[in-house]
Amino acid sequence: MSPIPPLPSHHRALTLKSTEVGLELTTVPTPVPSHGTVLVHVEAASVLSYHREIFNGARKYPLPSSTKDGAGFAGGYSAVGRVASVGPDATLLKPGQLVFADCVIHARDDPAGVFYLVGVATGSTDGGRYLANHVWRDGAFAEYVALPLENCVPLDESRLCSAPSAGGLGYSVADLAYASYLLVAYGGLRDIGLEPGETLIVCPATGGFGGAGVMTAVAMGARVIAMGRNATELARLQDRVATTYTAGNSHVETVRITGNMEADAQSLREAARGATVDAVLDFTPPQAAGEFDTPTERDTSIASWRTRKVMYEREDMVLFFKLLEAGLFPRGGGLDGGNENNFAHTKAFGLHQSQEALDAAAEHTGIGRSVVFAPEGMD
Ligand SMILES: NC(=O)c1ccc[n+]([C@@H]2O[C@H](COP(=O)([O-])OP(=O)(O)OC[C@H]3O[C@@H](n4cnc5c(N)ncnc54)[C@H](OP(=O)(O)O)[C@@H]3O)[C@@H](O)[C@H]2O)c1
Repeated sequence: MSPIPPLPSHHRALTLKSTEVGLELTTVPTPVPSHGTVLVHVEAASVLSYHREIFNGARKYPLPSSTKDGAGFAGGYSAVGRVASVGPDATLLKPGQLVFADCVIHARDDPAGVFYLVGVATGSTDGGRYLANHVWRDGAFAEYVALPLENCVPLDESRLCSAPSAGGLGYSVADLAYASYLLVAYGGLRDIGLEPGETLIVCPATGGFGGAGVMTAVAMGARVIAMGRNATELARLQDRVATTYTAGNSHVETVRITGNMEADAQSLREAARGATVDAVLDFTPPQAAGEFDTPTERDTSIASWRTRKVMYEREDMVLFFKLLEAGLFPRGGGLDGGNENNFAHTKAFGLHQSQEALDAAAEHTGIGRSVVFAPEGMD
């Protein structure tokens, strides 16, 4: 366990006060955790391909209102970091421990009914708006983030981050933030009970979440048909799965969507090779409908033939990291960062580079590609 720095009274955060201005680097008070709370020292905070559109107002997500003093809120998604401090009721989490810090906030008295992504959107319920405005307001684009205890999953740092020669998997902490993409697919695929050997269509597969869906489904033993419009990205996807997974576990076929329904259906039949298609993982973005709308109306995320699911539960997170620690995903690229043939090819930015990071995240998408803020290393 690495030593953590003493808690400062204030820290830096990327704050959104208005979508006209965008994210600003600000200094904010460091919260002191009370009951049910953990304070995480952020080491790598994932940036979404569409964070730029959220924070410039193009994607009309419901955001926390400004506080009376106009303090705004810190943007974010999920992150990897170290426990800095815990409330008095923590039993599992210990200061210094490496954790996955999840952005999905569930109301403790109504977990199924009220949830939202802190740093991304308030969700559409009164409970979500209340919590996002008054309680869990700030996301992980900061040196520290305060979260509910149950949002953090301890990581086996020795197994995940040691060199393969020492029995580890060679992931850098920045690489591990890519779990924030893989987990979304994992939650959906567990929810529909995907079994090894079943055939899954991922469409579109050429984006960040679609590519992560392919990686996750292959790790779970499925046979994947990856569909998309971009032939170059489909070829990269197929090559990546073939080179990063062990032979025999790389059952990916690709089908290019041409827009000709009959031809596309024929290509799909050929790719299925007579097998029944068991489920579909759908990460269609709102722009496919030609407009940006509220996430509750358009953000379908995962529509499968068995159910529809948004994000994942804590149990999914716990099981996902067991899968990762078991070595079922490609190895990491080591502490110097991954490359195209490893678990993740991660681009890291400091908090002072917010626009660069948002721009990079919009471009550096697709299977295995990840963009993070690394407040400590890059500033
Ligand atoms: N609610 C949830 O649980 C949840 C969680 C995560 C993500 N999401 C949704 O997932 C979406 C994708 O995110 P991402 O990070 O993967 O985005 P991304 O990396 O930008 O990928 C976008 C994907 O959509 C395809 N696409 C874009 N415009 C299209 C169009 N007009 N018609 C058909 N396909 C189109 C792209 O294909 P080309 O390569 O052909 O352009 C690409 O495969 C997000 O917009 C979000 O709404 C939802």
